[in-house]
Amino acid sequence: MDAFAAKIADKSARVGVIGLGYVGLPLAVGFARAGYGVLGLDVDEHKVAALNEGRSYIQDVESDDVMAAVQAGRLSAGSDYDLLGQTDAIFICVPTPFDAMKAPDLAYIEQAAKGIATRLKPGQLVILQSTTYPGTTEEFVLPILEESGLKAGQDFYLAFSPERINPGDRQYSVENTPKVVGGLTAHCTELGRLLLVQLFPHVHVVSSPRAAEMSKLLENIFRSVNIALVNELALLSERMGIDLWEVIEAAKTKPFGFMPFYPGPGVGGHCIPVDPYYLSWKAREYDFYTKFIELAAEVNQTMPYHVVDLVGQALSQAGKPLDRARVLVLGVAFKRNTDDARNSPAERIIELLLRRGAQVSYSDPFVPRYRVGCDVFHPTERWLESIDLTDQALAAADCVVIVAGHRAVDYAQVVRRASLIVDTVNATASLSGPSRVVRVGAPLPYSET
Ligand SMILES: NC(=O)c1ccc[n+]([C@@H]2O[C@H](COP(=O)([O-])OP(=O)(O)OC[C@H]3O[C@@H](n4cnc5c(N)ncnc54)[C@H](O)[C@@H]3O)[C@@H](O)[C@H]2O)c1
Repeated sequence: MDAFAAKIADKSARVGVIGLGYVGLPLAVGFARAGYGVLGLDVDEHKVAALNEGRSYIQDVESDDVMAAVQAGRLSAGSDYDLLGQTDAIFICVPTPFDAMKAPDLAYIEQAAKGIATRLKPGQLVILQSTTYPGTTEEFVLPILEESGLKAGQDFYLAFSPERINPGDRQYSVENTPKVVGGLTAHCTELGRLLLVQLFPHVHVVSSPRAAEMSKLLENIFRSVNIALVNELALLSERMGIDLWEVIEAAKTKPFGFMPFYPGPGVGGHCIPVDPYYLSWKAREYDFYTKFIELAAEVNQTMPYHVVDLVGQALSQAGKPLDRARVLVLGVAFKRNTDDARNSPAERIIELLLRRGAQVSYSDPFVPRYRVGCDVFHPTERWLESIDLTDQALAAADCVVIVAGHRAVDYAQVVRRASLIVDTVNATASLSGPSRVVRVGAPLPYSET
């Protein structure tokens, strides 16, 4: 057994986590709970301070767990990359957004890799976890790390292991979701596997970092394409007077060969609207055009526009023009039960409503403030504050648009008090009340023509 493997076995290995966000914090807390000393590194001083005080700032991570790890001396955080000198394994969990032209922005990975390179020690294992295009670990991270003068696979070890965290999911967490890993060499893979298996229930080994990078993109593109498929069928179903939600329930009784996906207001978050572009960008280097990815993006990006059209039509049926209406958006997180509002379809919906002259407010139990604007359509940012979902607020709205179907919201109250609802996620399906309800993917309660 080499020195690294021995340190993993006796839990004396110290784990560094760069980027303490939705991905990095659960990982850091998980390894601390598994008995390892963990050093978190983040450029955000607020996160560093919160973690050192034992406070969680991520909904799915309990403050009690952070506090227990900090008090046990197994978890601490800082902003200085010199801290990495104390670690044996380093996870990179920094953002991978795209730029204005939807090209990959690897600036954060570059900063992290450079920060590691100048301090890299023989024997250290570096695992990239940020979602990215196939080839990033070998073509981008490896050369930066080798500027240290150390040779990968020989002096230090390098692997890619995609992240599968699902914010807001009560069933699947870091500890019960299998993990994929692919190293630069067989030894890199084996060291990655040895470490990951301490936390994850099963570690699936692939032959290279690029296979691991591609597996993550396959998972997300699979979701994006299937969501687009049901979104397209939702538009057709509305016209044909068919309830697609009922159809999906029926199709889902087939025990093989079918997996349910549901229509909605569009896609959001840090993954589904972003990651597929990483692959379509890379594909062009190979004279290849990823048509499914583009088509899915096109359909999914149409949905916020469709939702606003539904709001306008429903209000007009009720004798209220959109430009004089008060619209309450219910849920601005990118999906139910999470506080993550990045790239949420609510953003485009609110912008379009404002552009068409509506008076817009929102309520979201998990998102107290919400930024709209700051994109090519609306260069001026503005902040909205969540209002309480009272009977008065519901009654005062000419239309309530349900965008994220949080479990914590009382939809019975919504159908009791709101006069008109546009429900994009079928949250009101089994409820009845005096409200008029228009559901995405269901027969419209009025003629569209
Ligand atoms: N959030 C998810 O559900 C999810 C799921 C799977 C994969 N991913 C991927 O994981 C990666 C991280 O996503 P996230 O949601 O945790 O992002 P996040 O924005 O929540 O967290 C990233 C953290 O990195 C920090 N950071 C940025 N630059 C840094 C630097 N140079 N040094 C140290 N810290 C730095 C930021 O301050 C932030 O705290 C992305 O590639 C994302 O696509 C995210």
